[in-house]
Amino acid sequence: MKKNIIAAVSSNYVIGKDGEIPWKSERELFHFKNSTMGLPILMGRKTWETLKNPLKNRLNIILSRNPDFSFFHPNVVIFNSISDAINYCEKENFEKLFIIGGEEIFNQMITLADEIILSVMNFEIDGDQFFPKIETNKWKLLSESDEGEFLIKHFEKI
Ligand SMILES: NC(=O)c1ccc[n+]([C@@H]2O[C@H](COP(=O)([O-])OP(=O)(O)OC[C@H]3O[C@@H](n4cnc5c(N)ncnc54)[C@H](OP(=O)(O)O)[C@@H]3O)[C@@H](O)[C@H]2O)c1
Repeated sequence: MKKNIIAAVSSNYVIGKDGEIPWKSERELFHFKNSTMGLPILMGRKTWETLKNPLKNRLNIILSRNPDFSFFHPNVVIFNSISDAINYCEKENFEKLFIIGGEEIFNQMITLADEIILSVMNFEIDGDQFFPKIETNKWKLLSESDEGEFLIKHFEKI
């Protein structure tokens, strides 16, 4: 199973501020939706709290260390560890898993990921949450596409 990170960063690598993404881009959201549609998405509990509802047509996998955390919905599953979540996805024979954030999850999972699909917005912004450093000796840039407001950079683990 491929484990792909998908994220949007400002040009100074901010991903969040005060628990939210500090910009709005319909076009980038469309790219996110288009890329993840029909596939399982894995997120930390704090990113989950920023969604009003489970993202549609995708299995929403939430990580929380709190064994009492629950949410009952046919498209939501909760795990208390990364390994339990990955084992579940492998058992379900998913071809691909999208890791969608936030900072804590990206920091822990960048070493496990096979690919990174990064939207790099064309502005700097103030923030308090950042995407981890993409080390050039570990990641190869496969493609770059200019979407105007942002560049989509597609990296593969070397
Ligand atoms: N720009 C983007 O692409 C993007 C994408 C997603 C999110 N974001 C932003 O990122 C920020 C949220 O990031 P964050 O770092 O604060 O939170 P987060 O990574 O979304 O969630 C952190 C929570 O996940 C759970 N968790 C983390 N590691 C775990 C593990 N190994 N096992 C089990 N549970 C684990 C814990 O939940 P419990 O506390 O319940 O134990 C932890 O508090 C927000 O600002 C959001 O808007 C940006």
